[in-house]
Amino acid sequence: MMDLIFYNISQLVTVAADGAKRKEGAAMREIGLIEDGAVAIRDGRIAYVGPSDGIDISKAERSINAFGKTVLPGFVDSHTHLVFAGAREGEFARRIAGATYAEIAADGGGINTTVKATRVASKVELTEYALHRLDSCLGFGSTTVEIKSGYGLDFENEIKMLEVVRELQELHVVEIVPTFLGAHTIPFDYKDRREEYLTLVLDRMLPEVGRRGLAQYCDVFVERGAFTVEEARTIFLRARELGLKARVHADQITPGGGAELAGDVFASSADHLDHISDNGLAHLRDSNTVATLLPGVSLFLGEQFPDARRFIDAGLAVAIATDANPGSCMSENIQLMMSLAATRMRMTMEEIVTAVTLNAAASLDRSDILGSIEVGKQADLLMFDVPNYHRIIYHFGVNHLNTVVKRGQVVMEKSYASARD
Ligand code: NIG
Ligand code: FE
Repeated sequence: MMDLIFYNISQLVTVAADGAKRKEGAAMREIGLIEDGAVAIRDGRIAYVGPSDGIDISKAERSINAFGKTVLPGFVDSHTHLVFAGAREGEFARRIAGATYAEIAADGGGINTTVKATRVASKVELTEYALHRLDSCLGFGSTTVEIKSGYGLDFENEIKMLEVVRELQELHVVEIVPTFLGAHTIPFDYKDRREEYLTLVLDRMLPEVGRRGLAQYCDVFVERGAFTVEEARTIFLRARELGLKARVHADQITPGGGAELAGDVFASSADHLDHISDNGLAHLRDSNTVATLLPGVSLFLGEQFPDARRFIDAGLAVAIATDANPGSCMSENIQLMMSLAATRMRMTMEEIVTAVTLNAAASLDRSDILGSIEVGKQADLLMFDVPNYHRIIYHFGVNHLNTVVKRGQVVMEKSYASARD
């Protein structure tokens, strides 16, 4: 007996990987399309994937007729800063009137504005705000979300942020992957005490995070005005000793060697990469690091979009994420990022689907159970109110999602859908 069967699915996009951890280069265009397909779920796992006439729907607790609909793997948003207090619409208005992101940061605004608001917020408040944002993520189809610290930037508040993330893991149905980003920027109160701040990260924060298992990854913002390549290397080496893998904010504003470093430390993901050098590209390829592109940041900051062709044609695995945060991309809408990737980053429709599913899961080292619809994998899937997946990307700025299944459970469903079945 199956728990749940989707049948008559007009387009079932499996992103089947046949055991591969990620899809690189041209393989990103292989998305395993099945017309008139079915998916069966038992005990939270996928038990059948194939043609509709290959399964008996009477042998299920519940069956959903997906005629005219598209089914995809649950999206994985592999880069967010969802835990924070205070919004920054004032700074946004300044930017719209002509100031740059860097000017605002140099004025004591930017990340430090959010640090001040986050430090004075209680864990209960931070949890409440983040739960709303996770609802928003889920509403657009993200069933797994990475969340970084990085707005505490002192011992007490970085730990507080990661404790909030742990609380969210208990409270929200979205699967959450925690990342420690104590090296996000030098906080305002350590402005002239850079060495002291680095020592704090290395000798106090990281050991505590490692000891308590509060994060799976360590991230560093490698950039002029944030951290140097050598500082970041020291942090990543210490993190690895403590059991944390690396992911890097690299080459966002300048080609500063961030991607090369990501390769050197075998980072699971190098993110942003708007200004990556050819040398950086080669390093990422040699280390199997996923290149995570963030089109929402380019849109929000009015910058040039990264050219995904450079990465994919060089044989890399590309992922797309939101970077949801109050300063450089105030949006949880992964569907919008997919449309931006199509219109502004020269990605094909197939590549985009792989980028928000299997490859994003790979960047979180979870593609063995997430990111595709294959027998044995965790049953995370989405049903959209459109007859083909192209329509999701093409008809942009609206939400096409109808039903979300997480770990085999229907966790979101448009009310009329069940009324009609
Ligand atoms: O990923 N690049 C650095 N950090 C964030 C922005 C954080 C903020 O402005 O609050 C990012 O874009
Ligand atoms: Fe970020």
